[in-house]
Amino acid sequence: MGLVNLQGQTALVTGAGKRVGRAIALALAVEGVNVAVHYSRSATEAEQTAAEIATQGVQSWTVQADFGQPQGAVGLVGRVLELAGVLDLVINSAGTFLPHRLDEVTWEGYLAEFAVNAWAPFVISREFAEQVGRGCVVNFLDCRIHGHSVAHVSYLWTKQLLAEMTTMLALRYAPQVRVNGVAPGLILAPPDEDDSALDRLVGQVPLKRRGEVEDLVSATLFLVKNDYFTGQVLYVDGGWHLK
Ligand SMILES: NC(=O)c1ccc[n+]([C@@H]2O[C@H](COP(=O)([O-])OP(=O)(O)OC[C@H]3O[C@@H](n4cnc5c(N)ncnc54)[C@H](OP(=O)(O)O)[C@@H]3O)[C@@H](O)[C@H]2O)c1
Repeated sequence: MGLVNLQGQTALVTGAGKRVGRAIALALAVEGVNVAVHYSRSATEAEQTAAEIATQGVQSWTVQADFGQPQGAVGLVGRVLELAGVLDLVINSAGTFLPHRLDEVTWEGYLAEFAVNAWAPFVISREFAEQVGRGCVVNFLDCRIHGHSVAHVSYLWTKQLLAEMTTMLALRYAPQVRVNGVAPGLILAPPDEDDSALDRLVGQVPLKRRGEVEDLVSATLFLVKNDYFTGQVLYVDGGWHLK
């Protein structure tokens, strides 16, 4: 088993203008990785992330794509290859979240979440495997793919589908491309909510506390550096999925 030296590699991180994607992009830069910072609406934040990455002495680029459009993710890998000339790692962190319960799910809502949370990472992973032919993908899931919940239903359907896609991609593109997942638990409240919703749920977590963005960063770095892992999901959730 080898620990991959990431120095000089190039990564695409989706949703990297803010929050988890931004933290992963910056951590990769510290490891010596050049980073393409994908964003949809957060152009200013993406430019700031890219500028901060460049202070680590590596290269950075910004790439815009709206995954809510039917063809939104198509060609993104090719655009990064045109900018960077090479691509070694893909971190699919972009996601969208509707709080719909089972009785509130709509066709339009499901499709909107499916496009961003499942179809886009699938298309990007497949284009990466077919156009680059080697490397590593990490898809961001959710710890609640395990078990059953009637809250956030269409969101969880799309994350469960992405978990299945992760397994299929891992099988289809081995041994050249490794595909793994990170399944976060209570880390950051959704952008439009305060922390009280997460704090109310902490009692259900076996480790009785929320996780940190750093926990997601270290899980991601573990999966990209350890090259005997594929088709694996790391639950970064204090054991919440066991309940
Ligand atoms: N935070 C948590 O505690 C937690 C828990 C469970 C799972 N997760 C998963 O972990 C990942 C990262 O979490 P997060 O909290 O950082 O996510 P987030 O803030 O909800 O979203 C990350 C980024 O996704 C991008 N995005 C949204 N709609 C898009 C679209 N139509 N096209 C392209 N990009 C789009 C946005 O980019 P722009 O801002 O540029 O538009 C956004 O900044 C997500 O996949 C999330 O579902 C997170």
